[in-house]
Amino acid sequence: MVDLTVDGAARGPSVYLETFGCQMNELDSELVRGHLKALGYGFIDDRDAADIVLFNTCSVRAQAENKVLSRIGRLRVEKQEGRSLIIGVIGCLAEREGESMLKRLPEVDLLCGPGELDRLPMLLDNVLKGVAVEMADRAALQGSTSRRSATLSAAEDSLELLDLSRAFEPEAASSGGRSAYVRITRGCNKFCTYCVVPNTRGAEVHRPPDAIVDECRALADKGVIEVTLLGQTVNHYLYVHGAAVDAGGAEVPQVGPGLAALRKGAGGWAGRRVTTFAHLLERIHDEVPEIQRLRFVTSYPRDFGDDVLDVMARCERICRYLHVPAQSGSDRILGLMNRGYTVGQYLEFVDRVLDRLPDASIAGDIIVGFPTETEDDFQETVDLVRRVPFKNNFIFKYSPRPGTTAIKRLPDDVPEALKRSRCNELLAIQAQVSAQVHAGQVGREVPVFVEKVTDVEPTSGGGGGVILGWEQNQAAKGAVQCSGRTPGDLITVFDAPSQASGEALVGKIISVFVESSAPRLLRGRMVACPSKVSLG
Ligand code: 5AD
Ligand code: SF4
Repeated sequence: MVDLTVDGAARGPSVYLETFGCQMNELDSELVRGHLKALGYGFIDDRDAADIVLFNTCSVRAQAENKVLSRIGRLRVEKQEGRSLIIGVIGCLAEREGESMLKRLPEVDLLCGPGELDRLPMLLDNVLKGVAVEMADRAALQGSTSRRSATLSAAEDSLELLDLSRAFEPEAASSGGRSAYVRITRGCNKFCTYCVVPNTRGAEVHRPPDAIVDECRALADKGVIEVTLLGQTVNHYLYVHGAAVDAGGAEVPQVGPGLAALRKGAGGWAGRRVTTFAHLLERIHDEVPEIQRLRFVTSYPRDFGDDVLDVMARCERICRYLHVPAQSGSDRILGLMNRGYTVGQYLEFVDRVLDRLPDASIAGDIIVGFPTETEDDFQETVDLVRRVPFKNNFIFKYSPRPGTTAIKRLPDDVPEALKRSRCNELLAIQAQVSAQVHAGQVGREVPVFVEKVTDVEPTSGGGGGVILGWEQNQAAKGAVQCSGRTPGDLITVFDAPSQASGEALVGKIISVFVESSAPRLLRGRMVACPSKVSLG
């Protein structure tokens, strides 16, 4: 058992928390940290010194899971050698594996799925007290057979309290505490055949718009100027007013009306006042003017209404950036993936976006080597990537995931070597497309939200160093490189005269003149900076 005394006096347990995977997990980790800190837990960066190690895990691809399993393997050895340590697996891997993981990996002390994180303190308490002999006291999971949707009654949704009681700490947040995520929707109803998310995160649940706007305002009051709204399919956000209230009449999260409407018969919510994603964006934009950049991920290519594009066109602080995964350029494969759109419809959508928002920046995800993918299917994906001005695409090799329809019904028949070569080919093509998109910005002045001073070590030239020639001279004079992003999410680097001046720019929006570009980068010089920043 972990000893929580120092010289006989009680001390709070120290926690090391490592996060894998997506932005949703980053937000979950922030909330868990805030919740546990309020209960007296301390957080440290040194895994070796921690009483408790928590892994907030991702299950989307086998690779992400394997990383965590190898970390656990190393800690197992330490525990066997006598280290007293609590290991907790939280997030999607916990949910996907279920209680059997506690049997298979006895060194793991607790499991908590992403839909049950509000119960984590109770689990930790059980384990710390050493009373948890029963597995049930060490695991909080939705259970893949009963998705939370089946049981979610509005008032029961204590998970929402975790979001509502958020204690945003600017000092712990990225970009100088000026950037934050805000969840609008949890879970997913799409059931793409390759994806574990509907099983691990449960059914789509939409948060009440007032709660979202209030959270944005509270963040702005703490100095946040960039908010990224999070959901698996943000454009499907829809809140039906009056459909879910607690005992006091306050609005609470509700299961996606799509699903509810389906259960009650189509149009079960017709006639009620609704808040759509477009309304929500407009409300946040208008009611929290301190937010200078309002972004959102991830969009679904189907049902992306013109109403959202019109709001984006009208509201200049909404970033013209869309992360809208196509996944494949073959209609046959899109059908097998259950994506619900054709390549033609995806292209129509992109045309609509660029028609209304000519400066929009589009990014996506692609899976190569999906079961039965032929050379022709792959070439259609290549064509799609060549046709759309994607600023970038995350390209993944298909990874069969337990519990998905694809693993049950389709053979993983594209050999690993072919998946790899298709992935590399597509990466090379995407690099050409990205290079063109970035080159289109050269000669322009762009607003850049400065995120960090990048670590740049002077080198003696050649040898693969990052600073050469003129830049090396600048470094010798004490100049540092800063990095940030444009509203279209293009990474931009520029020099600040000194470490101190660079650090003073972090979290601010400055104007940069773009002098050159690379496939994934703009390089420029600062042309204006906030008056309060000294360039000393
Ligand atoms: N194999 C490979 N990539 C996957 N993704 C989701 N599931 C899988 C899988 N089984 C990718 C999709 C999704 C992104 C988050 O991860 O492209 O958009
Ligand atoms: Fe997974 Fe598809 Fe939902 Fe995205 S939309 S989380 S890929 S099921």
